[in-house]
Amino acid sequence: MNALSPDQILRLAAPDVTCDLDLLDDELLKLLDVAAEVKRSPKRYAQALSGRSIALLFEKPSLRTKMTFELAIKQLGGNSVAADGPIGAREPLRDVARNLDRWVNAIVARVFLQSTVEELARWSNAPVINALSDLYHPCQALADIFTLTEVFGNVRGRKVAFVGDGNNVAHSLMLTCTRMGVNFALATPQGYAASPAILARAQSAALVTGARLEVTDDPVAAVANADAVYTDVWASMGQETEAEARRAAFAPYQVNEALFAKARPDAIFFHCLPAKRSQEVTDAVIESPRSRVFDQAENRLHTQKALLLMLL
Ligand code: CP
Ligand code: NVA
Repeated sequence: MNALSPDQILRLAAPDVTCDLDLLDDELLKLLDVAAEVKRSPKRYAQALSGRSIALLFEKPSLRTKMTFELAIKQLGGNSVAADGPIGAREPLRDVARNLDRWVNAIVARVFLQSTVEELARWSNAPVINALSDLYHPCQALADIFTLTEVFGNVRGRKVAFVGDGNNVAHSLMLTCTRMGVNFALATPQGYAASPAILARAQSAALVTGARLEVTDDPVAAVANADAVYTDVWASMGQETEAEARRAAFAPYQVNEALFAKARPDAIFFHCLPAKRSQEVTDAVIESPRSRVFDQAENRLHTQKALLLMLL
């Protein structure tokens, strides 16, 4: 693709990105191009957000998301301000939103409830980006599909298998893969299935692109013929008290050498991180040459730059 000048970048139709589907299909494709261009020529975009300020609100801990948003904003010439802790505890969310939008050009929020990020978006005149909720992790899925395109080129017809919790990361990944024409298999233990409403949306996307969506409780069936095997922690942030019960339920879903060997011989391993070694993944798999977890982490920076450029 030819170099884009910052003012040629397509602006997203939706005012906010509270879930993956706020990006239209062609916007998602364009974002991958912009991310590649920004990754190739970061200096070209060094002033793209000059004079802009962005608020980072984090109700939950973060290494990758917070650092990469802060760095993305800084490297694009903008400024960020951050606040940690519950967002709507001292005053109604609608007041938080209507304060912030007088000061900043965008709000990035990591929240427990999806309704929190939606309420912020509803009341803020500045765009709101979901930096992970209990239901979605759209910024992660952008980096994941971008990394997949770096590894495989055309991803249509490839297969991603997600083994583990049918939670935020799995939801965003399945919505993104199916609409990119990537076959998607999800293996979850009983009681930890994905949201039926989100599965239905992924199924609709799969019908359009011809992707195959498989949902099973059998990890071996899921990884069969997979080009990428993905897992996430068994107990997400906020689920710490369930960790013991979850360990028992998820034990057969560990991505270890035996399970990874059932995927394609050149399959890669993905994890959003942070990882709990010896739980959802063994050291041998996450440290193997086929593990791409740090490429995914690096690409959070580039894809979030692209997202900011297209939103602002
Ligand atoms: N993958 C991810 O979102 O990591 P953090 O929780 O460290 O932001
Ligand atoms: N599912 C995990 C993802 C962390 C990036 C969580 O919500 O804690």
